[in-house]
Amino acid sequence: MESALTARDRVGVQDFVLLENFTSEATFIENLRKRFKENLIYTYIGSVLVSVNPYKDLEIYSKQHMERYRGVSFYEVSPHLYAIADNSYRSLRIERKDQCILISGESGAGKTEATKKILQYYAVTCPASDQVETVKDRLLQSNPVLEAFGNAKTLRNDNSSRFGKYMDVQFDYKGAPVGGHILNYLLEKSRVVHQNHGERNFHIFYQLLEGGEDDLLRRLGLEKNPQQYHYLVKGQCARVSSISDKNDWKVVRRALSVINFNDNEVEDLLSIVASVLHLGNVQFAADEQGNAQVTTENQIKYLARLLGVEGSVLREALIHKTIIAKGEELVSPLNLEQAAYARDALAKAIYGRTFSWLVNKINKSLAYKEAECPGWRSATVLGLLDIYGFEVFQHNSFEQFCINYCNEKLQQLFIELTLKSEQEEYESEGIAWEPVQYFNNKIICDLVEEKFKGIISILDEECLRPGDATDMTFLEKLEETVKNHPHFLTHKLADQKTRKSLGREEFRLLHYAGEVTYSVTGFLDKNNDLLFRNLKETMCNSENTIINHCFERTELTDKKRPETAATQFKNSLSKLMEILMSKEPSYIRCIKPNDAKQAGRFDEVLIRHQVKYLGLMENLRVRRAGFAYRRKYEIFLQRYKSLCSETWPTWEGRPHDGVAVLVKHLGYKQEEYKMGRTKIFIRFPKTLFATEDALEIRKQSLATKIQATWRGFYWRQKFLHMKHSAITIQSWWRGTQGRRKASKKKWAVETIRRFIKGFIYRNYPRCSENEYFLDYIRYSFLMNLKRNLPKNVLDKSWPTPPPSLYEVSQLLRQLCMQNMVWSYCKRISPEWKQQLDQKVVASEMFKGKKDNYPQSVPRLFINTRLGTEEINPKVLQVLGNETIKYAVPVVKYDRKGYKARVRQLLLAQNAIFIVEEAKIKQRIDYANLTGISVSSLSDSLFVLHVRFEDNKQKGDVVLQSDHVIETLTKTAMSADKINNVNISQGSIKFTIGQGKEGIIDFTSGSELLIAKAKNGHLAVVAPRLNSR
Ligand SMILES: Nc1ncnc2c1ncn2[C@@H]1O[C@H](COP(=O)(O)OP(=O)(O)O)[C@@H](O)[C@H]1O
Ligand SMILES: [Mg+2]
Repeated sequence: MESALTARDRVGVQDFVLLENFTSEATFIENLRKRFKENLIYTYIGSVLVSVNPYKDLEIYSKQHMERYRGVSFYEVSPHLYAIADNSYRSLRIERKDQCILISGESGAGKTEATKKILQYYAVTCPASDQVETVKDRLLQSNPVLEAFGNAKTLRNDNSSRFGKYMDVQFDYKGAPVGGHILNYLLEKSRVVHQNHGERNFHIFYQLLEGGEDDLLRRLGLEKNPQQYHYLVKGQCARVSSISDKNDWKVVRRALSVINFNDNEVEDLLSIVASVLHLGNVQFAADEQGNAQVTTENQIKYLARLLGVEGSVLREALIHKTIIAKGEELVSPLNLEQAAYARDALAKAIYGRTFSWLVNKINKSLAYKEAECPGWRSATVLGLLDIYGFEVFQHNSFEQFCINYCNEKLQQLFIELTLKSEQEEYESEGIAWEPVQYFNNKIICDLVEEKFKGIISILDEECLRPGDATDMTFLEKLEETVKNHPHFLTHKLADQKTRKSLGREEFRLLHYAGEVTYSVTGFLDKNNDLLFRNLKETMCNSENTIINHCFERTELTDKKRPETAATQFKNSLSKLMEILMSKEPSYIRCIKPNDAKQAGRFDEVLIRHQVKYLGLMENLRVRRAGFAYRRKYEIFLQRYKSLCSETWPTWEGRPHDGVAVLVKHLGYKQEEYKMGRTKIFIRFPKTLFATEDALEIRKQSLATKIQATWRGFYWRQKFLHMKHSAITIQSWWRGTQGRRKASKKKWAVETIRRFIKGFIYRNYPRCSENEYFLDYIRYSFLMNLKRNLPKNVLDKSWPTPPPSLYEVSQLLRQLCMQNMVWSYCKRISPEWKQQLDQKVVASEMFKGKKDNYPQSVPRLFINTRLGTEEINPKVLQVLGNETIKYAVPVVKYDRKGYKARVRQLLLAQNAIFIVEEAKIKQRIDYANLTGISVSSLSDSLFVLHVRFEDNKQKGDVVLQSDHVIETLTKTAMSADKINNVNISQGSIKFTIGQGKEGIIDFTSGSELLIAKAKNGHLAVVAPRLNSR
């Protein structure tokens, strides 16, 4: 109901109990209509299910739907057959109490469909094993067979059940269906021989003719055409578009084998079906005496074969009757009418008894093998009652009377049980019972069944009494006996106005479901259900095993009159009531929306009628008389606890107290509710709806709160997760780092230790202790060396080697130097080589000996200081082919007065020339050059010593050159007098000629001064240089 509450604004209410205006039929029907339009065919009245036949396939019976209802609390899901089925099944399993589901409603309202769907539900949802599978199959397959033999097309329903059926399904302790049992009630046998217009005989006849294989039909002597058979054409609608006899035949044939029929049994069964058809075609003609004679020998022949009887015996039996009077058997012929009556009686008897046999046979195949599960009553039972509904036709006869009587009885049971259970609930909950006004149909039941005074008693009496009782005498008796009954009326008893609507042979009963007028015609016959003795006897001799079984010999010898049909029916009904009373009932009330079997059509008049006679309003009133809603405290509290801060989110105390706090908080008034022992009872739907509305609003805010909390929780979880992950990664990384650091430290310690050890052992020969150290030293020295190699030959830097590599270092240094020299040498040009040669010579001569030598080192020696154009051409001419290797301007000091004269000094191939302008002043052959003198100071004077013997010579020459080092180097080299250069300290002596000597005194001073001194010497003051 809780889901019903939520859905109430959308499509009516799912439980009529929640209708505010519960006494209004219009409101009730409006609710049905609203829901029907939306294909919501199921609605509750409390625990009773009201179902409206949709006349179309709704997609609400799938396996998924079944699963949705399985094991779910009744009120949690929308109303459905399955909810009822599941609820009963659960009570059966939990309480181990037998259950029954009573399905009622008028013909065509959907009872049989509901029964089948419930069976399917159990077949699908209940636990199973191989053996159980067989039982399930048989339970399901018994249906098509029973329907073929017991259902027919009527005006109300194309598949109308013409018998009542009560089926027990047995469940073992595990809840698996293990067996079943069927009780059948009053098959409408008259249909075998007669059908009203628009109706058909039982389906099996048409199915056999349409679907039966040619071979089979030939054996049975049948033709494919139903029109050939009198019993099939009374209603003039042998073929109906909505029924596929051919397909149904296949289903039935398959079903027969599932429920254990062997070929012989099937053959016998079909032989009987065929015999009925042949019987229908047996015709009579009157002879001269007016006695009937059979005119259709062919039919007798077939009948004899199919029923396994003597043809002649059968023929005679059909046209005679045997009466036993005073112990003597009297045979008398029948007239035409009587013969036809006897024939039809035989057909009905054969068919009716075969039907009962069929039910027994099915029961055998469904029987629960107790032996396999010993112990008393190991199975619990769930009964399904699908019995013909209340029926009103244009012409109503004995059958309708019985059917409607049956419905009265069921209504009685319904009233008793619902009221009883309601009352019991109030009692058990300790709430005062308030009596409810409702129509109790007991008065009608009594009218029918009361001993002596009831209609059935009177009918029986008429049937049994000697004399010529007729249907009309029965009616008179009735009028006499029950004339004052408020629910009984006849033409005679009616007032002027109503009389018109009643025929003289009719009586009218005011059933709980409405008025029905019955014609008494045929009542006696049908009640007697008479079959002449000789026909019975013939059947007793039948070789058809089924017929033989159905007609027992004891019947012939039994003196006691058999019970009349009505009494039999009454007794079986009262047994049924006992069965039902002993079980816990659930109800399904089926409603037919229109008479045209049309989908979507809601015929309000018709429905109002059904609502009325099904007593639905009464049912609702009873349910509502006390309280509209009741629910266990736990469930109520669970649903509404959020509406009160004291009960939300959890109530610690007893649910009873919690609910008390809650309703107080909600402001329920005293008269609005009552607190039972285990349940709260709420009187008006509006109280509940107000609470429900409050819950709706509360839900919104709760949802927001829950969402927020959930989001908070969700993100916090996520955050914590991330944090945890981060910490894990961090710690892992730190660990890794720590381990790396530790191993690095360890390695470092080891290395240092090795190093120290190596250091200690460094001077030992190579051994394990020092090898690393030595290798390292070697390596680092070599690496250092590699980085710091001397850049050039002048770079004297060299890393200091460790002692162990001293020798190596030396060798390497040498190598390196050689390599540098070698590569340097490779690179130098001839000019440069010459330059260097000269520089080397200069170095050898002057390095460390003459003060101004260092200044000359960086200055390059130049090939010549004077170009040929600076030398006088005359001089060049005189020199002829002498090549001038070097020329430099010099100052010559006279030998006597030491006067300074500007001259040029030329070095030729073999001699030195001193030139003054165009004149060669002096030629000194290299051979005559005995030496060269120069001071150690920074001056630039020098003396060329010349061999004296040479007369041409004027003595030694005192010269001064600005490039003294260069000039002297070149001169010495040209003259090959390198070893003849003297570097003097103090003074230089030189020859002036003819044994005379001159002296040059050198001193250091602040600046250069060259002058003749008083002592006649040439005094030279050379400036002091920083380098010295
Ligand atoms: N739940 C349903 N869904 C669809 N069609 C249905 C349903 N119940 C009944 N019918 C239709 O109505 C017809 C009559 O139903 P049935 O159960 O034979 O009625 P009843 O047994 O009450 O006389 C069915 O043959 C079927 O066509
Ligand atoms: Mg039915």
